[in-house]
Amino acid sequence: MKIFLDSADLKQIEKYASTGLINGVTTNPSLIAKNGANIFDTIKEICSIIYGPVSAEVTATDCNSMIREAEKLSTIAKNVTIKLPLTFEGLNACKILTDKGMETNVTLCFTPAQAVLAAKSGATFISPFVGRLDDIGLDGMDLIKNIKKIYENYNFKTQILVASIRSVFHVVESAKIGADVITIPPKIFDAMYNHPLTVSGLDTFLKDWENSKQNIL
Ligand code: E4P
Repeated sequence: MKIFLDSADLKQIEKYASTGLINGVTTNPSLIAKNGANIFDTIKEICSIIYGPVSAEVTATDCNSMIREAEKLSTIAKNVTIKLPLTFEGLNACKILTDKGMETNVTLCFTPAQAVLAAKSGATFISPFVGRLDDIGLDGMDLIKNIKKIYENYNFKTQILVASIRSVFHVVESAKIGADVITIPPKIFDAMYNHPLTVSGLDTFLKDWENSKQNIL
């Protein structure tokens, strides 16, 4: 399972990329706006830190303008993936960009039917938003199970990129289902390794070691 960072914060991206465990980055217009810097500068910087796919989202709503934006965004770096909304216009743009050989990430997916259309449009990634479904009382992980089953039935090549992850539960369930990618905010990366028994266990080991008066270095 690949791990992408869901962030446009350059300091955070640098910090977590240094682990060697981050395979890509996803951004969206809200994350770019929150970061405050220009989208072109931000995506360029991220692409210089991360060699894997970096999703940059179009903000136009009609197909022709989406394609023009995609062409501009794709000049930033080779590893830019064009993120498109799951709308009629977005699916059209996805098909055209895919046919031109561009990598695409179809975002804001909330149903299996939407995921079928994204796969048939040739999307490189489909981004189902699990947290936002949980937020309205539905089961986000159920969507991932359904997409996985459908994609396997037809051998669709589109990778399932689980988005809107709110907890380690979402991460573990994604791994159990066999999702291709998870995109996580930095705090979820921390939650994946942190455990109170690890902290207290290490504390005891270090105290016992100090009492032994030994040194390794
Ligand atoms: C992923 O591509 C999206 O940008 C992101 O996961 C959305 O997460 P949110 O629902 O927490 O905003």
